[in-house]
Parts: sequence; structure tokens; C-alpha cells
Amino acid sequence: MSELHTPHAGDDHAPDDDVVALLKRQHGDIRNLFDEVEACTGAERQDAFRRLVRLLAVHETAEQEVVHPYARRAFPGGEQVVEDRLAEEKTAKETLAEMDEMDTEDPTFMPRLVKLRTDVQEHARAEERYEFTHIYRNADAKTLAAMAKAVKAAEAMAPTRPHPGVQSAAANVALGPVAALMDRTKDAVRRAMGEGR
Ligand SMILES: [Fe+2]
Ligand SMILES: [Fe+2]
Repeated sequence: MSELHTPHAGDDHAPDDDVVALLKRQHGDIRNLFDEVEACTGAERQDAFRRLVRLLAVHETAEQEVVHPYARRAFPGGEQVVEDRLAEEKTAKETLAEMDEMDTEDPTFMPRLVKLRTDVQEHARAEERYEFTHIYRNADAKTLAAMAKAVKAAEAMAPTRPHPGVQSAAANVALGPVAALMDRTKDAVRRAMGEGR
């Protein structure tokens, strides 16, 4: 089922000199990964879901560290737009943390996934419409490129979580919670941005 193994932005050869294009591609990857989770069962579903949790956690953390702070001051009303997006991201993070503990074969898993998908998609649409459009209008090419570089660093440096059943349960717990993954990603982005200065 390799055709179902959703690639991630950064796996392709796009130059990634524009943070808005990069984040929009990630929104596409997230949509495809939801499709993949829905299309699989058993261990494949579990694996696809782990990858979805990681991608979402890394994507949202990178936005929070890189683009939201820029958007706050880049255009009038930016402050409120960012507050609204942060509230949506907080809800998604809570749902992810809850679902992260779940067996993907649990009968309540799919209904929750469908709800999460709807929320995440509405959030992505709102970002593209109310935030990214303004970033793209206001940022020069150098700024767009620098932000893209930081987002890619987050993706590259965030820890990968082991496949459940392959690693020991203890190792999973150690790497486990979504919040810890987001914290590590935050550190990675901050290091990347510090180096760019
Ligand atoms: Fe977001
Ligand atoms: Fe996003």
C-alpha cells in the first residue's frame, strides 16, 4: 500500500523559499494523511495515525513559533487573527493528546477522527484566508524565505516517534505525549532561528 504512504512537504524538490507555499503544502499533506488513516485498518491505521499526530504537532508548533508572531505585527487586525488561530490550535492539541492514547480500533476512534478532521480543515482554511494572504502581501522575499527555512528546520529536527510494538512500551512513553513532542519542536525551531541571525 505504498501509494497510500503520504509524503510530507520537504520530501519533494520544491525550493521552499516561500513560507506560505510551504505551509499550504503541509495543509495538503495533512488532508492526505487523514485520508490515509481513514482508508487503512489495523497496524497500518495505527502507523498512519502516528504520522498524522507528528505532522500536526510539528506543523502547528512551527506556525506558533514562526508565522503567528510575524502576523501579529504585519497587518492591522493581525493580533486578533492570531488569537483566533491560537484558540483553534489549542483545541486541536487537546484532542490530539486525548486521541494519542487511544487504540485506533476503538469504536469511538473514527467519530473523533472525523470531528478532528473537520476542525483542522476549518482552521487551515481560516489561516490561509485571514492570515497567510496578509503575510504574503506584507513580507518581502527574504522574510518569506527565512520563515520557510525555520519551518523546515522544525520538520527536520522534531523527533520521530517509534512505531508502537516495534519499540518497547517504555520508549514510547519516554517520547510519547503530544505536548513533549511540541516542546522539542519548539526548541528545534528556536535553535534554527537563532542560527539564522
Ligand atoms: Fe495552525
Ligand atoms: Fe496550518
